[in-house]
Amino acid sequence: MCGIIGCVGRGDETLDTLVHGLAKLEYRGYDSAGVALATDTVDVCKKSGKIDDLRAALESRTLSGPVGIGHTRWSTHGPPTDENAHPHRDCRGEVAVVHNGIIENYQSLRDELASAGHEFRSDTDTEVVPHLIEDALADGANPETAVREAIARLEGSYAVAVVIAGVDAIFAARNDSPLVLGIDDGEEGTGDAPGGAYYLASDVPAFRDHTDRVVYLDDGEFARLSSRGWRVTTLDGEPVEKAVDTVDWDPEETGKSGYDHFMLKEIHEQPRALRQCLRGRVDELSGTVDLGDLGDLTPRAVQFVACGTSYHAAIYAAQLFEEAGIPAKAYLASEYASKTPPIGDALVIGVTQSGETADTLSALREARRRGARTLAVTNTVGSTAARECDHTLYIRAGPEIGVAATKTFASQLAALNLLSLSVTSVSDSRDVIAGLRELPGAVQEILDDSNAEAVAETYGDAGAYFFIGRGLHYPVALEGALKMKEITYKHAEGFAAGELKHGPLALVTENTPVFAVVTGDDEMARKTIGNVKEVEARDAPVVAVTDGQSDVERYADHVLRVPDTHRRIAAVVANVQLQLVAYHTAAQLDRSIDKPRNLAKSVTVE
Ligand code: AGP
Ligand code: GLU
Repeated sequence: MCGIIGCVGRGDETLDTLVHGLAKLEYRGYDSAGVALATDTVDVCKKSGKIDDLRAALESRTLSGPVGIGHTRWSTHGPPTDENAHPHRDCRGEVAVVHNGIIENYQSLRDELASAGHEFRSDTDTEVVPHLIEDALADGANPETAVREAIARLEGSYAVAVVIAGVDAIFAARNDSPLVLGIDDGEEGTGDAPGGAYYLASDVPAFRDHTDRVVYLDDGEFARLSSRGWRVTTLDGEPVEKAVDTVDWDPEETGKSGYDHFMLKEIHEQPRALRQCLRGRVDELSGTVDLGDLGDLTPRAVQFVACGTSYHAAIYAAQLFEEAGIPAKAYLASEYASKTPPIGDALVIGVTQSGETADTLSALREARRRGARTLAVTNTVGSTAARECDHTLYIRAGPEIGVAATKTFASQLAALNLLSLSVTSVSDSRDVIAGLRELPGAVQEILDDSNAEAVAETYGDAGAYFFIGRGLHYPVALEGALKMKEITYKHAEGFAAGELKHGPLALVTENTPVFAVVTGDDEMARKTIGNVKEVEARDAPVVAVTDGQSDVERYADHVLRVPDTHRRIAAVVANVQLQLVAYHTAAQLDRSIDKPRNLAKSVTVE
């Protein structure tokens, strides 16, 4: 999920080029970094921590070679230690591999390789790759074929780059993880120009200082870069004609892949983040969910502890458990200790993208102190929450740079859905699973067609913004308001739709747009529409976030359309429209969107 760099043809500058490239990928977030250079041997240097830690480690080493690869790691399998940092090598130390993504079938491959005598030095899924290549080489395959054969055995998502001792080339392949080639040969994409320099990276900034000519690899493609040129084929070896594009971005902007802000980039990354969260965990045919080594969790009751956006995900999840007949309650982590709810048989679940939020950690510690089993639902492998809890469920959203949580919220909702399906009995589980499968596509549809920017423009001058929703849409209303206040600095509140008339209605005027989240056409939708009418009668503009099933549009001044999906999924997609409204409102106000005033990404004080 993080960063890859590779280069060939830079002579003595190979190492500097790699480390410079890694520094350019820092914005993606990472927890470890490493490089490998190949000559007759393959030398590796890797460290957990920052690129500066890698630089310090390199000072006492002499790594050189005409071809090399580098990596910034965002751990998914195994904590961020030196051993788990990439590149990973085979038993003989002649093959080095870097990888972004998740290899789903790594456990069976690892078992097979281990029983054939291979020795593993890390906890990562990645390490199976160099050992598979080692086997293929031992069977007599030439280097390129050996890499192809190894990659053909992988299931999951990957961008992979490989160097081999004595081979003046980098081999690379991608499936559902970005990889782009950089071409610096003075030719117009002939693919055959001795004397050029060639790069490969997960994003253009890594080599943008050297060339602006790029070739984007597609899923299922395989590349070979050597000092004699570059070539792209399918994994089976069929030649693929690739266009060489010229990027015209300013190198300073490229970290955001052309987006104005990380927040917008991350909103757009949601389909991919969701696919990553679901990958290998649902079986549509059998209607079952497999969360791997989560253990035997059959809670009689559940208490959620969380803060901010994660608390909204917790409210949503508590309702899923309640619906399945398991008593569940979401607590603000900072209030948990003072509430001292009886633990009984409860499983205490900390929802925290960073895994480092002090309030949440302290609530989890309090729960443990009182004898509860704990589960962390987090995005960060090796985080304190992951280390201290009895169990961990990773949401796999990839690093989030913007302070405002967006893709991690979507992935929390998806992961908590999986959790509820796996530990409770849900009568329409097949429909939920089908809905989850469609979720990335539904989010993509919104990203492609949303009119949120126009809505944001219409109400840019509003005095305040209100958000209402019922049931699973209540946390969506809270989250819509939180996003709005965080990045626009304007007053915004979310309410349970039915609560409006018990007080907040006094705030409603023609200058306070009300965003109403209404999907489906059931009793709940009809009741929320009743609340919408109350608002309309006070002349407040109404923006309906709806799938068009009910007649809420009749009472709305604007409509933000979402695809018709399963009830549980509707909350996730509706939230995307509200993220976009908040983003575009803040952009029009020229706010510091990625780093709003007074806020920090990870709140490590109570
Ligand atoms: C959300 O946009 C905020 N950044 C904030 O509310 C955040 O969700 C909260 O601080 C909890 O963080 P965590 O998920 O890392 O524990
Ligand atoms: N799954 C791999 C690991 O945990 C790669 C993570 C990444 O994309 O950085 O090492």
